[in-house]
Formats: sequence, structure tokens, C-alpha cells
Amino acid sequence: MLICLIREIAGSASAAHKQTPGTVFKTAELTIGSAPDQYLQVPHKEVDPQHAVLRMTSDGRLLLTALGPRGVVVNGHRETRVVLYPNDTLQLGDTSVKVEVPNGFGNEQYTCLLRVSDPYAPDETSPAAAAHTGMRRSRFTISFWSWTLTLGVAVVFLLVPMGTFLAPSVRKLLRSTPLVPSDALWSAGPLHATHRFIGNDCTACHVNAFERVRNSECEKCHDDVQHHVDVRSADVAVFDRQRCAACHFEHKEPATLVLRDQRLCTDCHARLDKLKSDPQIENAADFGSHHPEFRLAVLSRDEIVAPGQWQPQWLDSSNAATFKESSHLKFSHAQHLNPQGIKSPKGERVLQCGDCHRPNSSGREMMPIRMETQCSGCHSLHFDEHDPTSGVPHGNLQAMFRVLREHFSRQYLESTGPTMRTQTDRLRRPGQEARQMSIDEQRRARDWADTESLKMARELLEKRVCVDCHDVTRVLGASGFDQWQVTPVRLTQNWMPRVRFNHAAHITKPCTSCHDTAERSKRSSDILMPRIAKCRECHGDANDTSKLSSDCVMCHRFHLPQRGRFDTAALKARASQ
Ligand code: HEC
Ligand code: HEC
Ligand code: HEC
Ligand code: HEC
Ligand code: HEC
Ligand code: HEC
Ligand code: HEC
Ligand code: HEC
Ligand code: HEC
Ligand code: HEC
Repeated sequence: MLICLIREIAGSASAAHKQTPGTVFKTAELTIGSAPDQYLQVPHKEVDPQHAVLRMTSDGRLLLTALGPRGVVVNGHRETRVVLYPNDTLQLGDTSVKVEVPNGFGNEQYTCLLRVSDPYAPDETSPAAAAHTGMRRSRFTISFWSWTLTLGVAVVFLLVPMGTFLAPSVRKLLRSTPLVPSDALWSAGPLHATHRFIGNDCTACHVNAFERVRNSECEKCHDDVQHHVDVRSADVAVFDRQRCAACHFEHKEPATLVLRDQRLCTDCHARLDKLKSDPQIENAADFGSHHPEFRLAVLSRDEIVAPGQWQPQWLDSSNAATFKESSHLKFSHAQHLNPQGIKSPKGERVLQCGDCHRPNSSGREMMPIRMETQCSGCHSLHFDEHDPTSGVPHGNLQAMFRVLREHFSRQYLESTGPTMRTQTDRLRRPGQEARQMSIDEQRRARDWADTESLKMARELLEKRVCVDCHDVTRVLGASGFDQWQVTPVRLTQNWMPRVRFNHAAHITKPCTSCHDTAERSKRSSDILMPRIAKCRECHGDANDTSKLSSDCVMCHRFHLPQRGRFDTAALKARASQ
């Protein structure tokens, strides 16, 4: 006789210590399988309905016998008959079962103690889980009762509602009558939380009984969902038979509106070259072993297709040697990250990445670099080092010229001030207003201020300050303040537009583990982005358990922005024209 205590622990590491009190089974044979009548039920496609049994041998050892040709994976080896010892681990689909030392738990004596860690077990702390009580958790495993119930349920909830499909008037009546079963109860499981508002209106998605859900029903509500490829391109034809329900499954427990099975992607992407001639992208079958090297989308000025416009251009191994990021901002990481420190108004400072790069509120991306917040603490825009009021505003040439002229006009007044005052005093009679500056004097003041501010502007724009960071050009034929142009700065923000990279998920790693060339980079044109080999140190194939198993949807999206509406009927109609 086996006296088995089975304890479940939730899959996520944070919840690992939160285990259930456990369930005790007294039986001669502990059955394991995906069928609901098994003592240890593991619903997974790799687990047979009756997968294995656990028995006690006459000498008191635990004997596991596989019932199917798949065997059972124990400690990584596929076995058909094996004696289990404490600390052995069985792998059943995604679930692992650990055999533990049975004694020492309370006063009870167990002959076996199994610790089941189910990656899909609801996290007890989440509110969603509080409302969730599935068949597995209640461990309704006694076959007699389950059969009785199954048959009873079938009659009441299956045959009756099935009848209603034949007679729609009856269906309507049944649905509106409380406590009488209708097709609303004949559900494979509850709808996903986001769809639960649809309630019992099954026809919102199922138009005809026993027919698969059509795209048109989904598209009625989701009329803004974007396509995977540009809807104006010939590529849409590839999606002619693509069903929404192939990737979005309803009634699943635990709720999963987005299926993560990457075959949904690799069906096409493993051999994209077979699917279409001249694909713009390479084949990809699995991240760890078969995925193309990254290409980067670098903002750069387009002088051919759209002169003067900034557009992302793909940087890949074919053009890496010649292609540079040309943001038109000068900057040297190496200089600023000098481990000996760099001069600042408060003395020498050793800068860290975080002094300039701050994550945005979601933590996903780094906020754009701003002169005012990241640089002006050390790089002041004072044109007269002895005059703290001599700063010019940043980012706007016109405003800068205005400030320069005001400054020099004031200086003119202040320097000529005493002479003007004596004149005024001499000429002023009691009751008379202070004398205005003569027209002549005003012109002289303006001319002087203009010359001085132009001189200063030339110094800032051509010799120091602005040119330290910017590319400044002279406009041919222009004079005065119009003769300079600061080439706009455009720093690439989104280097990998096809993935949803998330800095927050990698916060435990130092910045330089991925951006390893940053500390040595002398020019802003250097590319500091990691290559695929870096990611592969941690991310592996979808089924690679030695690394972080990574499927396509972990990194990629399917519906891509600005591709146009996914409207199956309209796209088909256009294709057939
Ligand atoms: C939001 C849309 C939606 C609603 C509403 C909806 N379903 Fe479904 N249902 C689906 C999808 C998607 C599938 C997946 C089957 C497929 O590939 O077509 C499905 C599958 C099913 C299946 C087959 C289960 C299986 O395992 O293949 C049944 C039975 C079912 N639904 C019953 C119902 C009933 C009863 C209702 C009303 C309470 C309902 N559905 C409401 C979307 C919906
Ligand atoms: C009666 C209208 C309606 C129908 C029919 C419907 N949906 Fe939805 N669906 C919604 C609403 C509303 C939401 C929640 C708001 C949102 O995120 O767009 C939602 C959410 C979703 C989400 C999750 C969005 C997210 O951000 O988490 C997916 C995926 C989805 N629906 C797919 C489908 C598919 C596939 C079908 C067809 C089987 C379908 N829907 C049918 C109204 C509908
Ligand atoms: C029905 C076939 C099909 C399926 C399914 C499919 N793709 Fe694609 N995918 C394509 C085609 C076709 C292109 C465009 C190829 C080209 O530009 O030459 C594409 C393009 C892409 C691109 C490049 C996007 C860009 O900016 O142009 C990525 C990334 C991608 N797919 C990932 C995925 C992922 C992830 C999935 C699964 C969720 C998926 N695909 C499912 C056919 C498919
Ligand atoms: C003094 C401010 C400053 C510090 C400190 C700094 N950066 Fe930067 N970083 C910049 C500026 C300015 C840019 C934009 C110009 C450029 O591309 O070099 C930039 C750009 C980048 C980029 C994207 C540009 C590319 O070419 O790939 C990465 C990645 C980056 N920095 C990483 C780092 C890392 C890692 C550190 C710490 C080791 C660091 N930075 C420290 C100012 C700084
Ligand atoms: C902690 C103070 C500090 C911060 C913050 C700082 N810098 Fe500097 N930077 C300096 C110092 C000091 C020098 C001069 C180093 C030298 O001459 O050896 C310098 C030099 C430069 C130079 C080279 C100038 C030349 O004369 O060749 C550029 C370009 C530059 N910084 C850009 C920036 C940008 C852009 C930022 C903001 C993202 C920034 N710096 C932030 C202190 C700083
Ligand atoms: C320490 C480096 C630094 C100095 C010195 C500097 N700038 Fe900038 N400037 C930047 C950075 C970084 C940006 C881009 C981010 C921003 O707008 O803050 C920028 C942006 C600009 C822009 C806006 C460009 C656009 O496309 O919107 C103008 C115009 C500009 N600077 C003019 C000047 C002028 C004029 C001076 C001299 C008075 C000057 N800058 C001095 C770093 C500098
Ligand atoms: C696990 C690798 C990894 C680590 C660690 C990492 N980064 Fe990144 N970083 C990336 C990737 C990948 C991108 C490109 C993302 C994109 O643009 O889509 C990126 C982009 C950037 C950019 C360009 C702007 C942006 O947000 O896209 C900056 C700046 C940057 N990282 C700075 C940092 C700093 C600072 C740290 C440390 C706090 C850091 N990174 C840590 C991989 C990493
Ligand atoms: C040091 C190991 C390590 C490296 C190197 C690494 N990752 Fe990750 N990555 C992780 C971990 C751990 C997670 C978090 C998984 C989670 O939160 O569920 C993760 C999560 C992600 C996610 C999902 C983020 C999200 O929103 O949940 C993406 C996308 C990703 N990584 C992309 C990359 C890319 C691209 C690279 C290479 C530039 C990379 N990673 C390098 C360990 C790594
Ligand atoms: C760990 C994250 C990660 C995973 C997992 C991943 N990719 Fe990628 N993928 C990337 C990055 C990063 C790029 C390059 C950046 C970009 O294109 O925006 C990329 C680029 C691509 C491209 C464009 C290739 C080209 O020639 O430009 C395709 C197609 C693609 N991935 C498909 C897939 C498919 C299919 C899967 C699943 C088998 C997958 N990826 C899994 C991160 C990932
Ligand atoms: C090849 C698999 C695939 C197909 C086919 C597919 N989706 Fe999706 N869908 C995804 C994935 C993966 C996501 C997760 C986020 C993403 O990629 O944008 C998603 C996300 C969504 C979302 C969440 C919001 C958004 O736009 O990102 C909605 C709504 C949605 N899909 C509706 C639909 C509808 C409606 C159809 C049919 C017209 C459909 N999907 C077809 C894979 C697919």
C-alpha cells in the first residue's frame, strides 16, 4: 500500500516557497497521466492519458513503470521501469515531479512524498488565481464519481443544448430562462478575462454550430488590428488561409489568448524562401540554433531617396564596414568614462552610465539624451567666463542671437552710462522728463551691439562651445545671423524595431555586459549594440532547458504597426481582382 503526499508548488521562482498543504492518497497504485481520472493528472500533449504507475515493491521501494512507448524521463534519462530514490526528478511535459525524503513531515508517516512544480499553476497571490478553482486543484480523481458526473453532465448540458442548435427558437427560450441549461453552458471553458464581457453570447464568435470560428467575427470587433506584412504588398496572399483562431485560442485554462507555440511562426519562417521568392529577410527556425544575425535600423540622413529626411536604414554585415551612425552630435564615451575621472564644476567626477542614461517610466527604453539635463551641468553655455549672467539659451539659434544682442546693448548702455547721466542732469529742468536717447545714439548702440554679438556668435559657432558638440555649417551667400546652421541632431532611439527589447528585464546585468564597446568608444558614430552571440549566452531555443527557453513571441510581435488593417475579406477580394 502506498501512502503518498503530493504537494504542488507554483512554477515561478518567487512563488516557489508557497506550496500547497498537499493531498494524501492511499492506494495500491498511484496512476500518472493526462486523463482526469489519474491520481496525478498532468494535462500536457507529451503526457499520455495513462502515462505511468507508481507501486511499492515488496522490499519497500518505489517502482515506476511507464505504460506507453514514450517512457518516463527520470533525471534526464528516458526509462520504462525504474526504482525511484529521494531527489530523483521526473519530467512530465512542462511539469517536474521531485521525489523527496518522505519522513519528517508532521506526525504522519508517508511512504512517498512528491513535490510537483507546475509552471502553469496559478500564483496564489494573484487576484486572478483567487477566483480560480480548476478540476486539478480540487483533485476530483475518483473514477466512479467522475464517470457518473460526466454522463450526467453530458445528458443535461450537452444533449439539451445540442438540440437547441437544431431549433433556434428553443435556444432563445432556454437562454432567457434562468437555471435551465442552454448552449451557453456547453462551453469548453470560460472565456479569457478580456472577453468575459461578451457573456453568454456565443454567436459573437461562433456563427454556426460545429464550424470553426471565422476571422470575420473577430474582425467585427477588432477592426483596428494590424497585419503582419504591408497589406498593399503581394505578401498578403500568404495569409489567405491564416485563421485568427490558429494563434488565439479561447476557453483554455489557464487563460491564454495568445498561443505561444512557435510553430505558428516557424511554419512560415523556417523556410520563408520556399514561401515567397526574393524574401527581404532570412529564414529563422529557432533562436538558439537557427536565427539570423541582427540587423539594426539606424537613423540617418537620406540624400538619395528623400534628401534631407531622416530615415532608418538597415545596417547589416554587408554594409557594416562603410555604414556609420551619423547623428551629427560629437561625443566620446571613452573620454567621459575615464576611470580617473573628468573635470566638473564640483571637481573630478567618475561618470557612470546612469549619469547620462536613465530608463523611461516603463523601464524598457533609455530616455533620449538632452543637452539641458545630461550635459549642461559641465558644459555651460556662458560666453563670458567671468560673467555668470552671460549664458545663452540652448537649441534655438534665433533665441541665442536675441540674448546676445540684449547682452551687448545692455553693456553699451552700462559703459556709456555715466556720460549720458551727466548730460541728462545738465539739460533737465525741474518738472521735465528724462531726455530720450537721440536717434543717432540709438543707432550707434545698435550697431555696436550687432557687431559684438556677431563676433561672439562666430566664436561660439565656429571656435568653441557649440562646435564642440555640433556640426555647424556656413550658408553660402548669407550674411549676418543667417550665415550659420547647426545640423540637426537625431539620435537613434529604436535600433531594433522588430523586437520588444526590455531593459527592465535585464537590470541584473551591468550595462557593459551588452554594450561592451561603450567604454572604449571615441566617436558617436561607433555602434555600441550587442550581436546575437551575446543574447545566446542566456536565450536558447524554445525547448532548450539548459538556457532560458525563448520562443519567437517572447521577442517579436505578430501584428506590426502601420502595416494596414487585417481584414481577411477585403484583402481576399482585392487579391482576386
Ligand atoms: C471571443 C470569441 C468566442 C466566444 C464569445 C465563444 N467562443 Fe467558443 N471558441 C472560440 C475560439 C477561438 C475557439 C477555438 C476553436 C477554433 O479553432 O475555431 C472556440 C472553441 C469552442 C469549442 C470547441 C472547443 C475545442 O476544444 O475545440 C466549443 C465547444 C466552444 N467554443 C463553445 C462555446 C460556447 C458554448 C460559447 C458561449 C458561451 C463560446 N464558445 C463563446 C471563441 C469564442
Ligand atoms: C464582441 C466583440 C469581440 C469579439 C467578437 C472578439 N473580441 Fe477580442 N477583444 C474584445 C475587446 C473589447 C477586448 C479588450 C480590449 C482590447 O484590448 O482590444 C478584446 C481582447 C482581445 C485580445 C487581447 C488583447 C490584449 O491586449 O490582451 C485578443 C488577442 C483578442 N481579443 C482576439 C480575438 C479573437 C481572435 C477573436 C475571434 C475569435 C475575438 N477577439 C473576438 C472584443 C471582441
Ligand atoms: C503565413 C506566414 C507567416 C506567419 C505565420 C508568420 N510570418 Fe512573419 N513574415 C511573413 C512574411 C511573408 C514576411 C515578410 C517577408 C519579407 O519582407 O520578405 C514576414 C516578416 C516577418 C518579420 C520581419 C518584419 C518586418 O519588419 O518586415 C518578422 C520579425 C517576423 N515575420 C516574425 C514572425 C513571428 C514572430 C511570427 C509568429 C508570431 C510570424 N512572423 C508568423 C510570413 C509569416
Ligand atoms: C556623459 C554622458 C554619457 C555617459 C556617462 C554614457 N553615455 Fe552612452 N551616450 C551618450 C550620448 C550623448 C549618446 C549619443 C551619441 C552616441 O551615439 O554616442 C550615447 C549613446 C549610447 C548608446 C547608443 C548609441 C550607439 O551607438 O549604440 C549606448 C548603447 C550607450 N550610450 C551606452 C552607454 C553605456 C553602456 C554607458 C556606461 C558604460 C554610457 N553609455 C555612458 C552619453 C553618455
Ligand atoms: C561631468 C562633467 C561632464 C558631463 C556631464 C559631460 N561632459 Fe563633455 N566634457 C567634459 C569635460 C571636462 C571635457 C573636456 C575634456 C578634455 O578636454 O580632456 C568634455 C569634453 C566634451 C567634448 C569634446 C570637446 C572638445 O573640446 O573636443 C564633447 C563633444 C562633449 N564633452 C560632449 C558632451 C555631451 C554631449 C554631454 C552630455 C551628454 C557631455 N559632454 C557631458 C565634462 C563633461
Ligand atoms: C555639450 C554639448 C552641446 C553643446 C556645447 C551645445 N549643444 Fe546643442 N545640442 C546638444 C544635444 C545633445 C542636442 C540634442 C538633444 C537636445 O535637443 O537637447 C542638441 C540640440 C541642439 C539643437 C536642436 C537641433 C534639433 O534638431 O532640434 C540646436 C539648434 C542646438 N543644439 C544648438 C546649439 C547651439 C547654438 C549651441 C551653442 C550655443 C549648442 N547647441 C551647444 C548638445 C550640445
Ligand atoms: C541584455 C543586454 C543589455 C543590457 C544589459 C543593457 N542593454 Fe542597452 N540595449 C540593448 C539592446 C538590445 C538595445 C536596442 C533596443 C532597441 O533599440 O530596440 C539597447 C539600447 C540601448 C540604448 C539606445 C536607446 C534605447 O533605449 O533603445 C541605450 C542608450 C542603452 N541601451 C543604454 C543602456 C544602459 C545605460 C544600460 C545599463 C543600465 C544598458 N543599456 C543595459 C541591450 C542591453
Ligand atoms: C544575462 C542573461 C541574458 C542576456 C545576455 C540576454 N537576456 Fe534577455 N532575458 C533574460 C532574462 C533572465 C529575461 C527575463 C525573463 C522574464 O522576465 O520572464 C529576459 C527577457 C528578455 C525579453 C522579454 C522581455 C519582456 O518584456 O518580458 C526579451 C525580448 C529579451 N530578453 C531579449 C534579449 C536580447 C535581444 C538580448 C541580446 C541583446 C538578450 N535578451 C540578452 C536574460 C538575458
Ligand atoms: C531573444 C530574442 C529573440 C527571439 C527569441 C527571436 N528573435 Fe528574431 N530577432 C531578434 C532580434 C534582436 C532581431 C534583430 C533586430 C530587428 O530586426 O529589429 C531579430 C530579427 C528577426 C528577423 C529579421 C531577420 C532579418 O533578416 O532581418 C526575423 C525574420 C526573425 N527575427 C524571426 C524570428 C523567429 C521566427 C523567431 C522564433 C523562431 C525569432 N525570431 C525568435 C530577437 C529574437
Ligand atoms: C500567426 C499568429 C497570429 C495570427 C494568425 C493572428 N494573431 Fe493576433 N496576435 C498574435 C500574437 C503573437 C500577439 C501578441 C502581441 C503581438 O504580436 O502584437 C497577438 C496579439 C493580438 C491582439 C492584441 C492587440 C494587438 O494588436 O497587439 C489582438 C486584438 C489580436 N492579436 C487579434 C487578432 C485577430 C483579430 C486576428 C485575425 C484577423 C489575429 N489576431 C491573427 C498572433 C497572431
